[in-house]
Amino acid sequence: MSDEKSFHMTSDEFRRHGHAVVDWIADYRDRIESFPVLSQVKPGEVRAALPASAPLHGEPFAALLKDVEKIILPGVTHWQSPNFFAYFPSNNSAPSILGDLLSSGLGVQGMLWSTSPACTELETHVLDWLVPMLGLPEKFLSSSTGGGVMQDTASSAVLCALLAGRERATSFTSNEKGCDGRLIAYASTQTHSSLEKAAMITGIGRTNLRLIEVDKDFAMRPAALARQIETDKSAGLIPCFVCATVGTTSSNAIDPVPQIGRICRQHNLWLHVDAAMSGTAALCPEFRHIHNGVELVDSYCFNPHKWMFTNFDCNCFWVADRKALIRTLSIQPEYLRNQATESGAVIDYRDWHIQLGRRFRALKLWFVIRHYGVEGLQYHIHRHVQLARQFADWVKNDDRFKLAAPVPLNLVCFRHKGGDAVNQTIMECLNHSGDLYLTHTKLDGKLTLRLCVGQTNTQERHVERAWRRIREEAEKAAGLA
Ligand SMILES: Cc1ncc(COP(=O)(O)O)c(C=O)c1O
Repeated sequence: MSDEKSFHMTSDEFRRHGHAVVDWIADYRDRIESFPVLSQVKPGEVRAALPASAPLHGEPFAALLKDVEKIILPGVTHWQSPNFFAYFPSNNSAPSILGDLLSSGLGVQGMLWSTSPACTELETHVLDWLVPMLGLPEKFLSSSTGGGVMQDTASSAVLCALLAGRERATSFTSNEKGCDGRLIAYASTQTHSSLEKAAMITGIGRTNLRLIEVDKDFAMRPAALARQIETDKSAGLIPCFVCATVGTTSSNAIDPVPQIGRICRQHNLWLHVDAAMSGTAALCPEFRHIHNGVELVDSYCFNPHKWMFTNFDCNCFWVADRKALIRTLSIQPEYLRNQATESGAVIDYRDWHIQLGRRFRALKLWFVIRHYGVEGLQYHIHRHVQLARQFADWVKNDDRFKLAAPVPLNLVCFRHKGGDAVNQTIMECLNHSGDLYLTHTKLDGKLTLRLCVGQTNTQERHVERAWRRIREEAEKAAGLA
């Protein structure tokens, strides 16, 4: 043994500091309601508290944790606070944190089956579990023609879907020759901006993304889609892809997938369903209708990292025809060749997404499903929807406010009748107070407040308090207006 200093943390130190970190996280979870939900720091404040250059000499671990408390924590917006009602949830849970920690501890890179068989096989298995759990079609099972894969985000999933749709429509020639500007993709005006980005990246082009009008409930009008496809075909263009959304970001609208699916079948277009947040609701039989028509789609994704108690990042993406996806994304450099791949008996997930390397994401989702069981997950999702509906009733029964969209699940879009400026003031005052955090959108051209119930620990008392605080700020804002 050499006496040379290794600089590494010893196993004993790791054990000690590891316990301290787990204790810190447990304490953080216990005291989370004492922090302002939205970080109150000003731009540059976090950096100003950090030394200008990296330390030459290593520092004691206690100093690191101290700075997390002193410098980092004030700059954190507390997504795990039960008073977080903004955007969409990005929730976690204790089993998920522990699963993620194990994934870091194992530190495997699962680009190929052979680079860590458990990483691939657990992922395939958990994604197969989820198919019946969510009422998805059997064609998504790995034992059928399709299969599931974990992506980092819904943005990556829609990019892969659009690439596969592009390739299928061009008999797999656009990967070779590029696009000639005639391929057209479709989505509603309410579709998440990740599709616009995917249109840019895939070479489809932003102007070849048709945004189809929506009905009064902000769901895509299938007749308008059909008309636009016919118009484009008549002009010599090549429709290739439609994205339908189950639970739009702005208002939680649910596109009519059965009708859209039939149109896509008729014209042989790739249909992707983005159910980023709302797909989780289908765990409950009473909300499974949101998946009506999914038997007609080519691909589907949802984010357990939004509403299913699994920390970021964790997107589940399924395709009906895995061969089309693999043919779209597969490349075979010599240095990745191995016997297992050549045998054809294994899945190599590197061919199912953009990047090569991949972490062991399935562990945290496996832990979540096994810890809660299906009944535990259903209990919390059902409860969140109940709380959102209760809040919507309060809004409906207060004649100063009105609902701005239907409330199919856990998102309530509403506004004070006093106009945009009053709503803006209410939101800013609430967020500045640190008591809760909510965000806005525009519906029918009007500023609309969004209250999304989905944080793991949100209970009735949090939603009640949010409503009380909203009314308090509304009184002040209406008085000023
Ligand atoms: C409907 C929908 N799709 C996609 C996304 C993007 O999610 P991600 O961050 O996983 O790419 C969101 C996020 O708000 C969303 O609401």
